[in-house]
Parts: sequence; structure tokens; C-alpha cells
Amino acid sequence: MKPLLIAGNWKMYTVRASAIELAQQLRAGLASLLAQGGLEVVLLPPAPFLLEVVQVLAGTAIAVGAQCCHGEDEGAYTGAVSAPMIASTGARWVLCGHSERRRLFGESNREVGAQLRAALRAGLRPVLCVGETLEQREAGRTHEVVALQLRHALEGLDGAQAARVVIAYEPVWAIGTGRSASPQQAAEVHGAIRALLPAAAASEVRILYGGSVKPDNAAELLGQPQIDGVLVGGASLHADSFCAIAQAGSAVARARLAHETAGDSAARAAAGG
Ligand code: PGA
Repeated sequence: MKPLLIAGNWKMYTVRASAIELAQQLRAGLASLLAQGGLEVVLLPPAPFLLEVVQVLAGTAIAVGAQCCHGEDEGAYTGAVSAPMIASTGARWVLCGHSERRRLFGESNREVGAQLRAALRAGLRPVLCVGETLEQREAGRTHEVVALQLRHALEGLDGAQAARVVIAYEPVWAIGTGRSASPQQAAEVHGAIRALLPAAAASEVRILYGGSVKPDNAAELLGQPQIDGVLVGGASLHADSFCAIAQAGSAVARARLAHETAGDSAARAAAGG
């Protein structure tokens, strides 16, 4: 079973002291859950705090990542952060193409593709964010928009590279609005995304849901077999709510594992062994 992935995107929140404090609270709050297995947790603090958050979480199973990176490895790009810089802090992940980057910073599908390739070159695991606006959904264009975002981002990757990518389906209308997609809406788009992945990577790639994930809807969303984890924004800024979401993930992971184990034993019994 692929571990369920619970990622926390801190966006442009926290200062140095509160970032360290939140990381310390999560280190303590998630230790016993992570020891049970089946769950992977990634925290995405603001870039200036990557190094210290990595240090706070050293020796734990909690990984750290950045919220974006530039598509070039280095150069005269004032203010930008490169994938090799991120990797050199000990962070292992990076978001690519979050809708706030696309919408507020004008990042195009082409740039997101360049960032994703830069992340892979630096040995980082990219989380590629895709999703439609409300207008696009209402016009029946959800699949078309998501397919285009995927195609640009994954173009030219071989199966092994594509398998290192995690995809986050984040409908733009659900981000920060308190209005999450229904589990059925999310599952439907997740299925469509998986069908569009290169065959060599399709079964490996985890597809997360993001957009107003909270403790009270996490269990139902994660309960969908098509959903391999969640990308959490607002609720990741409080240790209590993020730990409650991770708790829901852990329960789902254990149920899936039990289901798989039961299936394996039944298959062995049927084969006479
Ligand atoms: P939200 O943000 O959970 O606050 O809706 C999700 C995201 O932007 O990744």
C-alpha cells in the first residue's frame, strides 16, 4: 500500500518563532501516529524557515518542503528560490503550480513544467497542483483544464521520473473558501487524473485532494479509495487541527492495510496455500 500523504501548506503565515513552535508542536503531536505506519507527513513552511524547521524535525518521519521553486538552477533572478537551494537545506519536497502561484504570480503551465523538472533535477519530490476555477467547472471544462495542466507539467518525463511526482487536485473554488469539493466530486476528478497519467507511473503516483480540508471533513474525503492524501492550507497552521486530520488519515491507512492483508490471505487460501 502507498502511504497516505498528509501535507501542510503554511503559505505566507508564521514568523521565525511561530514557525519553530508549530514544528515543535507537530513533532510531539504526530510522533505516536507516525510510529503506527501507513502515513507520510510533509510540512511546507515559508522558505526563510526551511532550515530551522528541518532541524526541529531531524530524526522524525516528518519531511519538509518548500512552496515553490524557480525553473532554473541558478541565475540573475532576484528574489527567486531555486530547487538546489531548497535541497541544500535538507528539505525534500516542493509544491509546483499551486493555484495562488498561477493566479497571483502569473505562473504559466510552461513555467510550472520547468519548475517540476528543476525539482526532479535537484532530487526533490514535486507536488504538482492542478485544478479548475468555478467558472471552468460551471462551463463543464474541469477535465480539459486539468488534462492541459498535467500534460504541460509531465511532458518529457520518463516513467521513473513521473513516479516521483505527487499530484494534488485542488479545485480553485475550494481553496480557502470553506467550501470543499464533495468526496464524490473529488473522487471523480481523481479517477480522471489517474487515467491521464503515463502508464509506467499510473499506479505509483499518489493523488491528493486539497481545498478547505478540515478535521470535520478529512475522514470522509480520505475514505474515498481514489484519494491518496490531502494538502491542507488553513487547518495546517494549528497543531490541533492538523493532528486531527493526520489522525483521520492514520485510521484510513490502517483500515486499507487491514483490507489488503485480508485480501492477500483470501487469495492465498483460494490458491491452496
Ligand atoms: P485551504 O488551502 O486548506 O486553506 O483551502 C489549501 C491549499 O491552498 O493548498
